[in-house]
Amino acid sequence: MFENHTINFDILKERAFNLRWATVPEGVIPLTAADPDFPSAPEIAEAMIRFTKDRYLSYGPAAGLASFKESVARFFQEKRQIPASPDLLFPVDSAAFGIYVICKAFLKAGDEAIIFDPVDFLFRYSTEAVAAVAVPFAIPPTDMPVDFERLEQLISNKTKMICLCNPLNPTGKVFTREELTRIGALAVKHNLIILSDEIWSDIIFKPHVFTSMASINEEIRSQTVTVTGYSKSYGLAGLRIGTVLASNAAHYERLFEASLHSSTIHGANVLSQVAVVAALDECGYWLDGFVSHLQQMRDLITTGLNSIEGFHCKAPEGCYVAFADIRGTGKSSAEIAELLFNEAKVSVVPGAKQWFGQGAEGYIRLSFATSEAVISEALSRIKQTF
Ligand SMILES: Cc1ncc(COP(=O)(O)O)c(C=O)c1O
Repeated sequence: MFENHTINFDILKERAFNLRWATVPEGVIPLTAADPDFPSAPEIAEAMIRFTKDRYLSYGPAAGLASFKESVARFFQEKRQIPASPDLLFPVDSAAFGIYVICKAFLKAGDEAIIFDPVDFLFRYSTEAVAAVAVPFAIPPTDMPVDFERLEQLISNKTKMICLCNPLNPTGKVFTREELTRIGALAVKHNLIILSDEIWSDIIFKPHVFTSMASINEEIRSQTVTVTGYSKSYGLAGLRIGTVLASNAAHYERLFEASLHSSTIHGANVLSQVAVVAALDECGYWLDGFVSHLQQMRDLITTGLNSIEGFHCKAPEGCYVAFADIRGTGKSSAEIAELLFNEAKVSVVPGAKQWFGQGAEGYIRLSFATSEAVISEALSRIKQTF
């Protein structure tokens, strides 16, 4: 399922946007946006075809199709040990929108939210979109322990939220139960909402294990809002679909109101919900195969990058991105990304503030959700350039 011949590069060049195949000049390999090169599982397309064949594409329920809510609740109960109820979750038109909805529901102008540094730009973006202030908390991609004292020092009387990204894009860190318990205890102590973004939670490399913040204990769960999506695990980014899960009815009401779903100004596409039901109910085998392929690709790309002078790459514990330290080259992230684009014909994401925050300078991010052949070719071009 995950060999080079299963990838249709002609279709990717027409359809894969967001810095990927459809946006780069011919001959350039885009290891940019984290979106798989492989076609999605066949059961997903079959379910969408069955649904469309009836030719009724009417309004769905504002809070989501019953089948979606049940399937996602079952996922959270069985795979994440969260006692989730279908009544406390609703679909959103992407995890990105889910993050924004949570910020809109729980932050007002001038409030502060702690975000990790480095981390995906969406947290800063959503915090600032509601006129709140993002306060960065450094978790560098090293073996240094998380500095919980520093985290508590960052909490002021304006702090209302901690944005947890677990696993952490771009460093690939998977938080341990102990670390989550300490973050959760701080949130309980200071009455902060925990936004727990778990979109990467299926992409975990052995021997690491994923723990959901809301599964730890009742006290921590009552502070937590979980957001997830299906772009990373099942390659459904273009369907723009995710889930927001509250821990109680009061939070749910607040979130649902912020989503504008009941007005129909926003809402999740029914076809995308049908796709998620098929993915969760029928495509576990596909996901298992994908993760075991990714584990091999992770080893290939980290070994390859570490063999280049000036590069150092810690193997990610989760996420299909390698976050390579390029400070040994004496060049900046932007310079390396430009050099790789122009000379190696490999496109990567520079560790720029715009993408991942201040703490990303000196790093580049490479997605490895592709075939062994594509990664080997990219590595050989990068090696040649250096
Ligand atoms: C941590 C994190 N959250 C959310 C998203 C957005 O996912 P979606 O495609 O569902 O908007 C991404 C995408 O890269 C991500 O890395």
